[in-house]
Amino acid sequence: MAAPTERIAAQLAGPSLWHTVEHLSEVASTNDVARQRMDAGAPPGLVVVADHQTRGRGRAGRDWQDPGATDPGRALLSSYVVGLPGAGATLVPLAAGLAVGDALRRQGVTCRLKWPNDVLVDGRKCAGILVERHEPRAGAGYLVIGIGVNVDWRGVDRDDGWTSVAEHSGADVDRFALMADLMRALDAWITSIPRNPRRLLLMYREDCDSIGRRVRVSFPDGEEVEGVAGDLDEVGRLVVETAEHGTIAVNAGDVTHLPAAG
Ligand code: BTN
Repeated sequence: MAAPTERIAAQLAGPSLWHTVEHLSEVASTNDVARQRMDAGAPPGLVVVADHQTRGRGRAGRDWQDPGATDPGRALLSSYVVGLPGAGATLVPLAAGLAVGDALRRQGVTCRLKWPNDVLVDGRKCAGILVERHEPRAGAGYLVIGIGVNVDWRGVDRDDGWTSVAEHSGADVDRFALMADLMRALDAWITSIPRNPRRLLLMYREDCDSIGRRVRVSFPDGEEVEGVAGDLDEVGRLVVETAEHGTIAVNAGDVTHLPAAG
């Protein structure tokens, strides 16, 4: 069988944001490898995918673990580098969430997004996205979009809050076919940002489970507020109506969905 990178290239006909796919068996974190390659002079458009991460990172300093040490087919762990857009960088995480949603739909799986970019299937987490921004020199900024998809966790011991694509697709999942779909969808959503940010926001609102819900927002400094998530603003912040602080626009924080007030 052809190498994964050749199979992906064959499925990505035509020009694309992505010029190189590097496949590695084990790394600390694909986001770190992407950053190292950029430090060494790689241009944006680089993609790094690994079978297993020994120090995978999630949002808010959490770990991102995978069962890939014993079975590489069970997780898709990949990072995508894009140049820092002049405007619209805050929409990139939302674009990534929509792209994962498109790729899962191609596997017959419908997901919902928990703001900013947790991907939930039947209320359980199926994929997570960590976007890291680097600016080594003025004008040379870039974003590393790290995406972890639980591909097949059937039989894997885990908490109740987690699920995987294969548990909903009704069939085995080829992670590199899934990755090719994800790359295409990322390309389409990211390149749509300067052209049509309103459409992206419209589509995100439709797929977002947080809007209209009571939520608790935990901020990076440890502060928490509760309220009703009413909408997204034009830069993708979650607008929350709170009793204590009035209307606030959240640009970074962890959202917990709460039961509706009784
Ligand atoms: C989250 O939901 O907390 C975000 C998880 C992001 C995990 C991916 S796996 C590939 C990339 N490399 C990392 O170390 N993290 C991201």
